[in-house]
Amino acid sequence: MAVSALDDVDLVLKTMAQTIVDNAVYFAELDGVVGDGDFGYSLRNGFEVVVSDYDTFDRSSVGTLLKKVGFVLSGKVGGVSGPIWGTAFLRAAAAAGDRTELSGEEVIAILRAAVIGIMARGGASLGDKTLLDALVPAIDTLEAGLARPDAAQDHGAAALQAAADVAVKAAEDTKPMLAKRGRAAYTGERSIGSVDAGATAIGVILQSVSSAWREKHS
Ligand SMILES: Nc1ncnc2c1ncn2[C@@H]1O[C@H](COP(=O)(O)OP(=O)(O)OP(=O)(O)O)[C@@H](O)[C@H]1O
Ligand SMILES: [Mg+2]
Repeated sequence: MAVSALDDVDLVLKTMAQTIVDNAVYFAELDGVVGDGDFGYSLRNGFEVVVSDYDTFDRSSVGTLLKKVGFVLSGKVGGVSGPIWGTAFLRAAAAAGDRTELSGEEVIAILRAAVIGIMARGGASLGDKTLLDALVPAIDTLEAGLARPDAAQDHGAAALQAAADVAVKAAEDTKPMLAKRGRAAYTGERSIGSVDAGATAIGVILQSVSSAWREKHS
C-alpha cells in the first residue's frame, strides 16, 4: 500500500469537517426521529472550528494534528458526541504518534484505536445501533482492500470507495435494530424502523472523503 503523507491527512480531516458542517441539518433531523435532534448541531459546533482554524493547527506530525482535533471536539461538541468523537481522535493521535507518513497498516491501526476508544468511552458494542455499526464494517472493508496486491496502484482509492459503500449499506441496515445506547435508547421499541443518525453520518462522511481522495490521487 502506498504511503500517505501529512497532506493526505489534511485532505481527509478538512473534507470530513466540511462535510459535517454542510450536513448538520440533515444529521440533526435524523437524530430527531427518535433522539433529541441535536446530533448534527453538536458535531457542527466542533467541526466548524476545525474548518476555520485548521491552518493554525500544529502539523509537525499526524499525532499532533489528530490530538488538536480531539481537543477541539472535546471542548466544543456537546452531549454524548463530544466525549465519543473527542476520545476517538485522542486515541487515534496516540496511535499515530510522531509519524509524518503512514502505511496502509498504520492507517488501519489508527482507526482501530479510535474504535476501541469509542467503545471504552460510550460502552457500546456492535449491534447497539450506533455509529460503530457503520464504522467497524467500513474499517474491515478498508483493511481487506488495502491488503490487495494492486491497492497501491490507485493509492487505495478503490479500497476507500468500497469501505464508503459498505458504510452506507451498514447504516441502512441499522433500521430494524433496537437502539441500546444514547437518547434513542430511551424510546425503546420506537427506535425500530429508522436509521441511526451516527451510522448514517459515517456513510456520508466516507463517501465525501472517498471522492476527494480519488480526485487528488487520480
Ligand atoms: N454510547 C455510544 N457509543 C457510540 N455511539 C453512540 C453512543 N450513544 C450515541 N451514539 C451515537 O451518537 C448519535 C447521537 O449523538 P448525540 O450527540 O445526539 O447523542 P444522544 O444519544 O442524542 O444524546 P445527547 O443528545 O444527550 O447527547 C447516535 O446516532 C449514535 O450513532
Ligand atoms: Mg441527540
